[in-house]
Amino acid sequence: MTNGPWWKNAVVYQIYPRSFADSNGDGVGDLEGIRQRLDHLAWLGVDAIWISPFFKSPMADFGYDVSDYCDVDPLFGTLDDFDALVSEAHAHGIKVIVDWVPNHSSDQHAWFVESRSSRDNPKRDWYIWRDPAPDGGPPNNWIGAFLEGSAWTFDETTGQYYLHLFLPEQPDLNWRNPDVIEAMHDTLRFWLDRGVDGFRMDVVMGIVKRADLADVEGGLVQMADESRYDPPAVHERLRAIRTLLDSYPGDRVSVGEVFVLSTARVAEYYGNNDELHLSFNFPPLFAPWDADKWRHRIERTETELGRVSAWPTWVLSNHDNARHRTRYGSSEGRARAAAVMLLTLRGTTFLYEGEELGLDDAIVPAERVVDPGGRDGCRAPIPWTADAPHGWNGAEPWLPFPPAAGDRSVETLLADEASILHLYRHLIAAKHASAALQTGDLTLLAAPDGVLAYERVLDEDARTVLVNFTGEPQSIDAQGIVDVSSIGTGEGEPFSGLLAPDEAVILS
Ligand code: GLC
Repeated sequence: MTNGPWWKNAVVYQIYPRSFADSNGDGVGDLEGIRQRLDHLAWLGVDAIWISPFFKSPMADFGYDVSDYCDVDPLFGTLDDFDALVSEAHAHGIKVIVDWVPNHSSDQHAWFVESRSSRDNPKRDWYIWRDPAPDGGPPNNWIGAFLEGSAWTFDETTGQYYLHLFLPEQPDLNWRNPDVIEAMHDTLRFWLDRGVDGFRMDVVMGIVKRADLADVEGGLVQMADESRYDPPAVHERLRAIRTLLDSYPGDRVSVGEVFVLSTARVAEYYGNNDELHLSFNFPPLFAPWDADKWRHRIERTETELGRVSAWPTWVLSNHDNARHRTRYGSSEGRARAAAVMLLTLRGTTFLYEGEELGLDDAIVPAERVVDPGGRDGCRAPIPWTADAPHGWNGAEPWLPFPPAAGDRSVETLLADEASILHLYRHLIAAKHASAALQTGDLTLLAAPDGVLAYERVLDEDARTVLVNFTGEPQSIDAQGIVDVSSIGTGEGEPFSGLLAPDEAVILS
Protein backbone atom coordinates (compact mmCIF):
# COMPACT_ATOMS: atom_id res chain seq x y z
CA MET A 1 0.00 0.00 0.00
CA THR A 2 1.20 3.46 -0.82
CA ASN A 3 1.01 6.41 1.50
CA GLY A 4 -1.33 9.35 1.16
CA PRO A 5 -4.99 9.85 1.98
CA TRP A 6 -7.18 6.75 1.61
CA TRP A 7 -9.28 8.26 -1.18
CA LYS A 8 -6.42 8.49 -3.64
CA ASN A 9 -6.31 4.76 -4.20
CA ALA A 10 -9.96 4.16 -3.55
CA VAL A 11 -12.61 2.45 -5.60
CA VAL A 12 -15.84 4.22 -4.67
CA TYR A 13 -19.16 2.50 -5.34
CA GLN A 14 -22.18 4.75 -5.88
CA ILE A 15 -25.42 3.53 -4.36
CA TYR A 16 -28.67 5.02 -5.60
CA PRO A 17 -30.59 3.96 -2.51
CA ARG A 18 -34.06 3.69 -4.04
CA SER A 19 -32.79 1.02 -6.41
CA PHE A 20 -30.13 -0.90 -4.52
CA ALA A 21 -31.76 -3.23 -2.00
CA ASP A 22 -35.14 -3.23 -0.29
CA SER A 23 -35.34 -4.59 3.26
CA ASN A 24 -39.03 -3.96 3.97
CA GLY A 25 -40.78 -5.00 0.78
CA ASP A 26 -42.23 -1.62 -0.17
CA GLY A 27 -40.59 -1.64 -3.60
CA VAL A 28 -38.09 1.09 -2.72
CA GLY A 29 -34.55 0.37 -1.50
CA ASP A 30 -33.49 1.60 1.94
CA LEU A 31 -30.55 2.01 4.34
CA GLU A 32 -31.17 -1.33 6.03
CA GLY A 33 -31.11 -2.96 2.60
CA ILE A 34 -27.65 -1.48 2.04
CA ARG A 35 -26.48 -2.71 5.45
CA GLN A 36 -27.60 -6.24 4.59
CA ARG A 37 -25.49 -6.20 1.41
CA LEU A 38 -22.23 -5.00 2.96
CA ASP A 39 -20.75 -8.51 2.87
CA HIS A 40 -21.25 -8.53 -0.87
CA LEU A 41 -19.64 -5.11 -1.31
CA ALA A 42 -16.71 -6.21 0.84
CA TRP A 43 -16.37 -9.34 -1.34
CA LEU A 44 -16.30 -7.11 -4.41
CA GLY A 45 -13.52 -5.15 -2.75
CA VAL A 46 -14.75 -1.55 -2.87
CA ASP A 47 -13.14 0.91 -0.46
CA ALA A 48 -16.07 3.28 -0.06
CA ILE A 49 -19.72 3.75 -0.83
CA TRP A 50 -21.25 7.04 -1.91
CA ILE A 51 -24.94 7.03 -1.11
CA SER A 52 -27.17 9.35 -3.16
CA PRO A 53 -29.53 11.46 -0.99
CA PHE A 54 -31.57 9.64 1.66
CA PHE A 55 -32.54 12.79 3.57
CA LYS A 56 -36.09 13.96 4.23
CA SER A 57 -37.56 14.91 0.90
CA PRO A 58 -40.87 15.26 -0.91
CA MET A 59 -39.05 13.42 -3.76
CA ALA A 60 -39.81 15.83 -6.59
CA ASP A 61 -36.24 14.99 -7.72
CA PHE A 62 -36.03 11.68 -5.80
CA GLY A 63 -34.09 13.10 -2.88
CA TYR A 64 -32.14 15.90 -4.58
CA ASP A 65 -34.83 18.16 -3.12
CA VAL A 66 -33.99 18.07 0.58
CA SER A 67 -36.54 19.26 3.16
CA ASP A 68 -34.34 18.43 6.17
CA TYR A 69 -30.58 18.10 5.71
CA CYS A 70 -30.17 16.47 9.12
CA ASP A 71 -32.66 13.63 9.05
CA VAL A 72 -33.39 10.44 7.13
CA ASP A 73 -36.53 10.18 5.03
CA PRO A 74 -38.85 7.51 6.52
CA LEU A 75 -38.88 5.81 3.10
CA PHE A 76 -35.19 5.00 3.63
CA GLY A 77 -35.24 4.38 7.40
CA THR A 78 -34.08 6.30 10.45
CA LEU A 79 -30.98 7.98 11.81
CA ASP A 80 -30.42 4.82 13.87
CA ASP A 81 -30.40 2.81 10.65
CA PHE A 82 -27.84 5.23 9.27
CA ASP A 83 -25.62 4.94 12.34
CA ALA A 84 -25.82 1.15 12.13
CA LEU A 85 -24.89 1.29 8.47
CA VAL A 86 -21.87 3.50 9.10
CA SER A 87 -20.54 1.43 11.94
CA GLU A 88 -20.98 -1.85 10.06
CA ALA A 89 -19.50 -0.41 6.88
CA HIS A 90 -16.49 0.72 8.89
CA ALA A 91 -16.21 -2.73 10.45
CA HIS A 92 -16.02 -4.08 6.88
CA GLY A 93 -13.31 -1.55 6.02
CA ILE A 94 -15.70 0.43 3.83
CA LYS A 95 -15.86 4.23 4.10
CA VAL A 96 -19.14 6.12 3.74
CA ILE A 97 -19.61 9.22 1.59
CA VAL A 98 -22.93 11.04 1.66
CA ASP A 99 -24.44 13.30 -0.97
CA TRP A 100 -24.67 16.95 0.07
CA VAL A 101 -27.01 19.17 -1.94
CA PRO A 102 -25.90 22.74 -1.23
CA ASN A 103 -27.22 24.58 -4.28
CA HIS A 104 -30.90 24.26 -3.46
CA SER A 105 -33.27 22.85 -0.90
CA SER A 106 -36.80 21.56 -1.32
CA ASP A 107 -39.58 24.13 -1.46
CA GLN A 108 -40.92 22.22 1.58
CA HIS A 109 -37.81 22.95 3.66
CA ALA A 110 -38.76 25.04 6.73
CA TRP A 111 -36.27 27.69 5.54
CA PHE A 112 -38.09 28.18 2.26
CA VAL A 113 -41.55 28.00 3.84
CA GLU A 114 -40.48 30.92 6.02
CA SER A 115 -38.70 32.70 3.21
CA ARG A 116 -41.74 32.76 0.97
CA SER A 117 -44.14 33.76 3.77
CA SER A 118 -43.42 37.51 3.55
CA ARG A 119 -40.95 39.97 2.12
CA ASP A 120 -39.69 40.92 5.56
CA ASN A 121 -39.32 37.43 6.97
CA PRO A 122 -35.80 36.99 8.45
CA LYS A 123 -35.21 34.09 6.02
CA ARG A 124 -36.38 36.03 2.96
CA ASP A 125 -32.79 36.56 1.85
CA TRP A 126 -31.86 32.88 2.32
CA TYR A 127 -33.15 32.31 -1.22
CA ILE A 128 -32.93 34.40 -4.37
CA TRP A 129 -36.00 36.62 -4.80
CA ARG A 130 -36.39 39.31 -7.45
CA ASP A 131 -39.07 41.63 -8.75
CA PRO A 132 -40.65 40.80 -12.11
CA ALA A 133 -39.15 42.31 -15.25
CA PRO A 134 -40.93 45.49 -16.45
CA ASP A 135 -43.22 43.33 -18.63
CA GLY A 136 -44.16 41.22 -15.59
CA GLY A 137 -42.11 38.24 -16.82
CA PRO A 138 -39.16 36.54 -15.12
CA PRO A 139 -36.17 38.68 -14.06
CA ASN A 140 -33.85 37.12 -16.67
CA ASN A 141 -33.66 34.47 -19.40
CA TRP A 142 -32.20 31.63 -17.37
CA ILE A 143 -33.55 28.16 -18.05
CA GLY A 144 -34.25 25.58 -15.34
CA ALA A 145 -33.08 22.01 -15.89
CA PHE A 146 -35.53 19.16 -16.59
CA LEU A 147 -38.68 21.15 -17.40
CA GLU A 148 -36.66 23.47 -19.61
CA GLY A 149 -38.78 26.49 -18.86
CA SER A 150 -37.81 29.64 -16.98
CA ALA A 151 -35.55 29.15 -13.94
CA TRP A 152 -37.86 31.57 -12.09
CA THR A 153 -41.25 30.91 -10.52
CA PHE A 154 -43.61 33.71 -9.54
CA ASP A 155 -44.93 33.60 -5.99
CA GLU A 156 -48.39 35.16 -5.68
CA THR A 157 -48.17 35.80 -1.93
CA THR A 158 -45.30 38.25 -2.11
CA GLY A 159 -45.37 39.26 -5.76
CA GLN A 160 -41.80 38.26 -6.54
CA TYR A 161 -40.01 35.51 -8.45
CA TYR A 162 -37.63 32.97 -6.86
CA LEU A 163 -34.75 31.32 -8.67
CA HIS A 164 -34.42 27.57 -9.22
CA LEU A 165 -31.76 26.17 -11.55
CA PHE A 166 -33.66 22.87 -11.44
CA LEU A 167 -37.35 22.19 -10.71
CA PRO A 168 -39.63 24.84 -9.17
CA GLU A 169 -39.65 22.52 -6.12
CA GLN A 170 -35.87 23.13 -5.79
CA PRO A 171 -35.35 26.82 -4.88
CA ASP A 172 -31.70 27.94 -4.95
CA LEU A 173 -30.14 28.91 -1.65
CA ASN A 174 -28.47 32.30 -1.43
CA TRP A 175 -24.81 31.53 -0.73
CA ARG A 176 -24.08 35.27 -0.48
CA ASN A 177 -25.89 35.34 2.86
CA PRO A 178 -23.50 34.51 5.76
CA ASP A 179 -26.33 32.87 7.73
CA VAL A 180 -26.91 30.43 4.87
CA ILE A 181 -23.21 29.61 4.78
CA GLU A 182 -23.21 28.97 8.52
CA ALA A 183 -26.38 26.87 8.41
CA MET A 184 -25.01 24.77 5.55
CA HIS A 185 -21.70 24.32 7.34
CA ASP A 186 -23.71 23.03 10.29
CA THR A 187 -25.25 20.38 8.05
CA LEU A 188 -21.74 19.20 7.13
CA ARG A 189 -20.76 19.09 10.81
CA PHE A 190 -23.90 17.09 11.60
CA TRP A 191 -22.82 14.22 9.32
CA LEU A 192 -19.11 14.55 10.08
CA ASP A 193 -19.91 14.18 13.77
CA ARG A 194 -21.84 10.99 12.92
CA GLY A 195 -18.68 9.57 11.37
CA VAL A 196 -19.10 9.99 7.62
CA ASP A 197 -15.88 9.93 5.61
CA GLY A 198 -16.82 12.59 3.13
CA PHE A 199 -19.29 14.21 0.81
CA ARG A 200 -20.18 14.16 -2.83
CA MET A 201 -21.20 17.78 -3.45
CA ASP A 202 -24.09 18.29 -5.83
CA VAL A 203 -23.70 20.96 -8.58
CA VAL A 204 -21.18 22.67 -6.36
CA MET A 205 -19.73 24.88 -9.12
CA GLY A 206 -23.02 26.80 -9.20
CA ILE A 207 -23.73 27.65 -5.58
CA VAL A 208 -23.01 31.38 -6.00
CA LYS A 209 -24.75 33.12 -8.90
CA ARG A 210 -23.32 36.08 -10.81
CA ALA A 211 -24.09 39.21 -8.85
CA ASP A 212 -25.91 41.02 -11.68
CA LEU A 213 -28.14 38.05 -12.56
CA ALA A 214 -27.80 39.17 -16.17
CA ASP A 215 -29.19 37.33 -19.19
CA VAL A 216 -26.90 34.62 -20.60
CA GLU A 217 -26.58 32.95 -23.96
CA GLY A 218 -27.01 29.28 -24.59
CA GLY A 219 -30.51 28.22 -23.60
CA LEU A 220 -30.52 24.60 -22.59
CA VAL A 221 -26.75 24.13 -22.36
CA GLN A 222 -26.67 26.62 -19.51
CA MET A 223 -26.09 24.01 -16.79
CA ALA A 224 -22.58 23.21 -18.00
CA ASP A 225 -21.23 26.69 -18.62
CA GLU A 226 -20.23 28.98 -15.83
CA SER A 227 -21.74 32.19 -17.16
CA ARG A 228 -24.57 32.16 -14.63
CA TYR A 229 -22.22 31.61 -11.71
CA ASP A 230 -19.59 33.63 -9.87
CA PRO A 231 -16.51 31.35 -9.91
CA PRO A 232 -14.32 33.53 -7.63
CA ALA A 233 -17.08 33.57 -5.01
CA VAL A 234 -17.60 29.82 -5.42
CA HIS A 235 -13.87 29.27 -4.88
CA GLU A 236 -14.02 31.28 -1.68
CA ARG A 237 -16.96 29.18 -0.41
CA LEU A 238 -15.06 26.00 -1.32
CA ARG A 239 -12.00 27.12 0.64
CA ALA A 240 -14.13 27.58 3.75
CA ILE A 241 -15.70 24.15 3.24
CA ARG A 242 -12.24 22.62 2.82
CA THR A 243 -11.05 24.22 6.06
CA LEU A 244 -14.07 22.76 7.83
CA LEU A 245 -13.49 19.25 6.44
CA ASP A 246 -9.76 19.33 7.16
CA SER A 247 -10.44 20.32 10.77
CA TYR A 248 -11.75 16.77 11.31
CA PRO A 249 -9.36 13.85 11.72
CA GLY A 250 -9.22 10.99 9.22
CA ASP A 251 -8.97 12.54 5.77
CA ARG A 252 -12.64 13.41 5.21
CA VAL A 253 -13.03 13.87 1.48
CA SER A 254 -15.00 16.21 -0.76
CA VAL A 255 -15.78 15.21 -4.33
CA GLY A 256 -17.47 17.89 -6.34
CA GLU A 257 -20.01 17.40 -9.05
CA VAL A 258 -18.36 20.13 -11.09
CA PHE A 259 -20.58 19.94 -14.12
CA VAL A 260 -18.37 21.94 -16.46
CA LEU A 261 -17.39 20.36 -19.76
CA SER A 262 -13.80 21.56 -19.82
CA THR A 263 -11.15 19.65 -17.89
CA ALA A 264 -9.06 22.83 -17.65
CA ARG A 265 -11.96 24.55 -15.89
CA VAL A 266 -12.62 21.55 -13.66
CA ALA A 267 -9.00 21.75 -12.47
CA GLU A 268 -9.71 25.21 -11.03
CA TYR A 269 -12.07 23.76 -8.44
CA TYR A 270 -9.24 21.93 -6.71
CA GLY A 271 -7.84 25.39 -5.94
CA ASN A 272 -4.32 25.51 -4.71
CA ASN A 273 -4.91 22.20 -2.92
CA ASP A 274 -7.29 24.19 -0.71
CA GLU A 275 -10.68 23.65 -2.35
CA LEU A 276 -12.17 20.30 -3.44
CA HIS A 277 -10.10 17.20 -2.70
CA LEU A 278 -11.56 15.58 -5.80
CA SER A 279 -13.81 16.56 -8.64
CA PHE A 280 -15.72 14.64 -11.22
CA ASN A 281 -14.46 15.34 -14.72
CA PHE A 282 -17.35 14.68 -17.09
CA PRO A 283 -15.91 15.13 -20.59
CA PRO A 284 -14.64 11.53 -20.65
CA LEU A 285 -18.05 10.26 -19.56
CA PHE A 286 -19.50 11.88 -22.65
CA ALA A 287 -16.82 10.53 -25.00
CA PRO A 288 -17.92 7.74 -27.35
CA TRP A 289 -16.26 4.31 -27.31
CA ASP A 290 -13.45 5.30 -29.63
CA ALA A 291 -9.73 4.82 -29.02
CA ASP A 292 -8.72 8.23 -30.40
CA LYS A 293 -11.31 10.10 -28.41
CA TRP A 294 -10.31 8.32 -25.22
CA ARG A 295 -6.64 8.89 -25.87
CA HIS A 296 -7.40 12.58 -26.22
CA ARG A 297 -9.48 12.65 -23.00
CA ILE A 298 -6.77 10.90 -21.01
CA GLU A 299 -4.14 13.25 -22.39
CA ARG A 300 -6.25 16.31 -21.47
CA THR A 301 -6.88 14.99 -17.99
CA GLU A 302 -3.21 14.21 -17.36
CA THR A 303 -2.14 17.61 -18.65
CA GLU A 304 -4.77 19.87 -17.14
CA LEU A 305 -5.01 18.24 -13.73
CA GLY A 306 -1.27 17.53 -13.68
CA ARG A 307 -0.60 21.25 -14.09
CA VAL A 308 -2.07 21.91 -10.63
CA SER A 309 -1.21 18.52 -9.07
CA ALA A 310 -4.90 17.70 -8.82
CA TRP A 311 -5.76 14.05 -8.38
CA PRO A 312 -8.05 12.76 -11.18
CA THR A 313 -11.28 10.82 -10.89
CA TRP A 314 -12.74 8.42 -13.44
CA VAL A 315 -16.39 7.53 -13.85
CA LEU A 316 -18.36 5.97 -16.69
CA SER A 317 -21.87 5.73 -15.27
CA ASN A 318 -24.07 7.40 -12.66
CA HIS A 319 -27.71 8.06 -11.86
CA ASP A 320 -27.98 10.96 -14.34
CA ASN A 321 -26.87 9.36 -17.59
CA ALA A 322 -27.54 6.27 -19.66
CA ARG A 323 -25.34 3.43 -18.43
CA HIS A 324 -22.09 3.06 -20.35
CA ARG A 325 -22.91 -0.45 -21.49
CA THR A 326 -26.01 0.99 -23.14
CA ARG A 327 -24.14 4.00 -24.52
CA TYR A 328 -21.46 1.75 -25.98
CA GLY A 329 -23.95 -0.29 -28.00
CA SER A 330 -25.17 -2.74 -25.33
CA SER A 331 -22.08 -4.84 -25.85
CA GLU A 332 -20.81 -7.05 -23.05
CA GLY A 333 -17.38 -7.17 -24.69
CA ARG A 334 -17.10 -3.38 -24.60
CA ALA A 335 -18.42 -3.20 -21.04
CA ARG A 336 -15.68 -5.64 -19.99
CA ALA A 337 -12.95 -3.77 -21.84
CA ALA A 338 -14.19 -0.47 -20.37
CA ALA A 339 -13.90 -1.94 -16.88
CA VAL A 340 -10.22 -2.74 -17.47
CA MET A 341 -9.61 0.83 -18.60
CA LEU A 342 -11.66 2.42 -15.81
CA LEU A 343 -9.81 0.59 -13.05
CA THR A 344 -6.33 1.19 -14.45
CA LEU A 345 -6.44 4.91 -15.24
CA ARG A 346 -4.56 7.18 -12.85
CA GLY A 347 -7.00 8.43 -10.24
CA THR A 348 -9.83 7.57 -7.92
CA THR A 349 -12.32 5.16 -9.50
CA PHE A 350 -16.08 5.66 -9.22
CA LEU A 351 -18.38 2.74 -10.01
CA TYR A 352 -22.15 3.00 -10.30
CA GLU A 353 -24.23 0.20 -8.78
CA GLY A 354 -24.97 -2.49 -11.35
CA GLU A 355 -22.17 -1.75 -13.79
CA GLU A 356 -20.34 -4.70 -12.23
CA LEU A 357 -23.28 -6.81 -13.43
CA GLY A 358 -23.00 -5.40 -16.93
CA LEU A 359 -26.49 -3.93 -16.65
CA ASP A 360 -28.11 -2.04 -19.47
CA ASP A 361 -30.65 0.71 -18.90
CA ALA A 362 -34.19 -0.47 -18.30
CA ILE A 363 -36.72 0.18 -21.00
CA VAL A 364 -39.32 2.20 -19.14
CA PRO A 365 -42.80 2.25 -20.69
CA ALA A 366 -44.50 5.64 -20.82
CA GLU A 367 -46.92 4.80 -18.01
CA ARG A 368 -44.03 4.03 -15.63
CA VAL A 369 -41.95 7.13 -16.32
CA VAL A 370 -41.42 9.01 -13.06
CA ASP A 371 -38.40 11.30 -13.53
CA PRO A 372 -39.06 14.67 -15.14
CA GLY A 373 -35.41 14.60 -16.29
CA GLY A 374 -35.79 11.36 -18.29
CA ARG A 375 -33.25 9.42 -16.21
CA ASP A 376 -35.35 6.43 -15.12
CA GLY A 377 -33.57 3.88 -17.31
CA CYS A 378 -30.26 3.97 -15.43
CA ARG A 379 -32.05 3.94 -12.06
CA ALA A 380 -33.66 0.51 -12.47
CA PRO A 381 -33.53 -1.83 -9.45
CA ILE A 382 -30.57 -4.16 -8.95
CA PRO A 383 -31.50 -7.80 -9.59
CA TRP A 384 -30.14 -9.82 -6.66
CA THR A 385 -31.53 -13.27 -7.46
CA ALA A 386 -32.03 -15.15 -10.71
CA ASP A 387 -35.77 -15.63 -10.22
CA ALA A 388 -38.32 -12.83 -10.17
CA PRO A 389 -38.85 -10.75 -8.11
CA HIS A 390 -35.03 -10.80 -8.01
CA GLY A 391 -34.68 -10.26 -4.29
CA TRP A 392 -37.26 -7.48 -4.22
CA ASN A 393 -39.94 -9.03 -2.08
CA GLY A 394 -43.46 -7.74 -1.81
CA ALA A 395 -44.43 -4.73 -3.84
CA GLU A 396 -43.41 -4.19 -7.45
CA PRO A 397 -40.20 -2.10 -7.44
CA TRP A 398 -40.65 1.57 -8.19
CA LEU A 399 -39.11 1.09 -11.65
CA PRO A 400 -39.00 -1.93 -13.97
CA PHE A 401 -35.93 -4.21 -13.95
CA PRO A 402 -33.20 -3.84 -16.57
CA PRO A 403 -33.14 -6.26 -19.53
CA ALA A 404 -32.06 -9.87 -18.84
CA ALA A 405 -32.38 -9.22 -15.10
CA GLY A 406 -32.23 -12.91 -14.19
CA ASP A 407 -29.15 -13.64 -16.29
CA ARG A 408 -27.39 -10.55 -14.96
CA SER A 409 -28.46 -10.98 -11.34
CA VAL A 410 -25.89 -11.03 -8.57
CA GLU A 411 -26.80 -14.64 -7.82
CA THR A 412 -26.28 -15.81 -11.41
CA LEU A 413 -23.03 -13.94 -11.95
CA LEU A 414 -21.56 -14.96 -8.59
CA ALA A 415 -21.90 -18.58 -9.64
CA ASP A 416 -20.01 -17.96 -12.89
CA GLU A 417 -16.32 -17.27 -12.41
CA ALA A 418 -16.02 -15.98 -15.97
CA SER A 419 -18.72 -13.34 -15.40
CA ILE A 420 -18.25 -9.58 -15.57
CA LEU A 421 -18.91 -9.46 -11.81
CA HIS A 422 -15.85 -11.61 -11.16
CA LEU A 423 -13.89 -9.50 -13.65
CA TYR A 424 -14.68 -6.35 -11.63
CA ARG A 425 -13.59 -8.08 -8.43
CA HIS A 426 -10.41 -9.22 -10.13
CA LEU A 427 -9.68 -5.70 -11.41
CA ILE A 428 -10.30 -4.05 -8.05
CA ALA A 429 -7.92 -6.56 -6.46
CA ALA A 430 -5.36 -5.89 -9.20
CA LYS A 431 -5.53 -2.16 -8.50
CA HIS A 432 -5.14 -2.72 -4.78
CA ALA A 433 -2.18 -5.03 -5.31
CA SER A 434 -0.14 -2.72 -7.55
CA ALA A 435 1.51 0.49 -6.45
CA ALA A 436 1.93 1.36 -10.14
CA LEU A 437 -1.80 1.08 -10.78
CA GLN A 438 -2.54 3.18 -7.72
CA THR A 439 -0.19 6.10 -7.85
CA GLY A 440 2.20 5.36 -10.71
CA ASP A 441 2.66 7.79 -13.57
CA LEU A 442 0.62 7.23 -16.70
CA THR A 443 2.28 7.36 -20.11
CA LEU A 444 0.33 6.93 -23.33
CA LEU A 445 2.04 4.52 -25.75
CA ALA A 446 1.98 4.27 -29.53
CA ALA A 447 -0.64 1.80 -30.72
CA PRO A 448 -2.36 0.77 -33.95
CA ASP A 449 -5.64 2.47 -34.93
CA GLY A 450 -8.47 1.41 -32.68
CA VAL A 451 -6.19 0.41 -29.80
CA LEU A 452 -5.42 2.44 -26.69
CA ALA A 453 -2.19 1.63 -24.87
CA TYR A 454 -0.63 3.10 -21.75
CA GLU A 455 1.86 2.29 -19.11
CA ARG A 456 1.67 2.84 -15.37
CA VAL A 457 4.97 2.92 -13.53
CA LEU A 458 6.06 3.45 -9.96
CA ASP A 459 9.67 2.59 -9.10
CA GLU A 460 10.13 -1.10 -9.89
CA ASP A 461 6.44 -1.74 -10.43
CA ALA A 462 5.12 -1.41 -13.99
CA ARG A 463 1.93 -2.36 -15.78
CA THR A 464 0.96 -2.03 -19.42
CA VAL A 465 -2.70 -1.69 -20.37
CA LEU A 466 -3.95 -2.44 -23.88
CA VAL A 467 -7.56 -1.82 -24.90
CA ASN A 468 -8.96 -2.96 -28.24
CA PHE A 469 -11.85 -0.61 -29.04
CA THR A 470 -12.70 -2.52 -32.22
CA GLY A 471 -14.61 -5.68 -33.03
CA GLU A 472 -11.59 -6.99 -34.99
CA PRO A 473 -8.48 -8.74 -33.69
CA GLN A 474 -5.50 -6.37 -33.40
CA SER A 475 -1.81 -7.10 -33.23
CA ILE A 476 0.41 -4.92 -31.11
CA ASP A 477 4.02 -5.09 -30.16
CA ALA A 478 3.95 -5.31 -26.37
CA GLN A 479 5.61 -7.59 -23.87
CA GLY A 480 4.67 -8.90 -20.49
CA ILE A 481 2.73 -11.50 -18.61
CA VAL A 482 -1.05 -11.24 -18.88
CA ASP A 483 -2.28 -10.34 -15.38
CA VAL A 484 -5.88 -9.80 -16.37
CA SER A 485 -7.70 -10.24 -19.66
CA SER A 486 -11.22 -8.86 -20.05
CA ILE A 487 -12.18 -12.14 -21.71
CA GLY A 488 -10.16 -14.30 -19.36
CA THR A 489 -7.76 -15.83 -21.88
CA GLY A 490 -4.04 -16.36 -21.49
CA GLU A 491 -3.84 -15.10 -17.90
CA GLY A 492 -0.50 -15.94 -16.30
CA GLU A 493 1.11 -16.47 -19.71
CA PRO A 494 3.29 -14.20 -21.88
CA PHE A 495 1.21 -11.85 -24.04
CA SER A 496 0.85 -13.30 -27.55
CA GLY A 497 0.94 -9.95 -29.35
CA LEU A 498 -2.67 -10.35 -30.42
CA LEU A 499 -5.76 -8.76 -28.84
CA ALA A 500 -9.08 -10.48 -29.50
CA PRO A 501 -12.06 -8.32 -30.60
CA ASP A 502 -13.07 -5.99 -27.72
CA GLU A 503 -10.32 -7.41 -25.54
CA ALA A 504 -8.44 -5.39 -22.93
CA VAL A 505 -5.48 -6.68 -20.93
CA ILE A 506 -3.20 -5.69 -18.09
CA LEU A 507 0.38 -6.89 -18.56
CA SER A 508 3.04 -6.97 -15.88
C1 GLC B 1 -27.19 16.80 -9.80
C2 GLC B 1 -27.65 15.40 -9.48
C3 GLC B 1 -28.97 15.19 -10.16
C4 GLC B 1 -29.95 16.18 -9.61
C5 GLC B 1 -29.43 17.61 -9.78
C6 GLC B 1 -30.22 18.56 -8.95
O1 GLC B 1 -26.91 16.97 -11.14
O2 GLC B 1 -26.70 14.46 -9.85
O3 GLC B 1 -29.45 13.88 -9.98
O4 GLC B 1 -31.17 16.05 -10.28
O5 GLC B 1 -28.11 17.73 -9.35
O6 GLC B 1 -29.97 18.35 -7.60
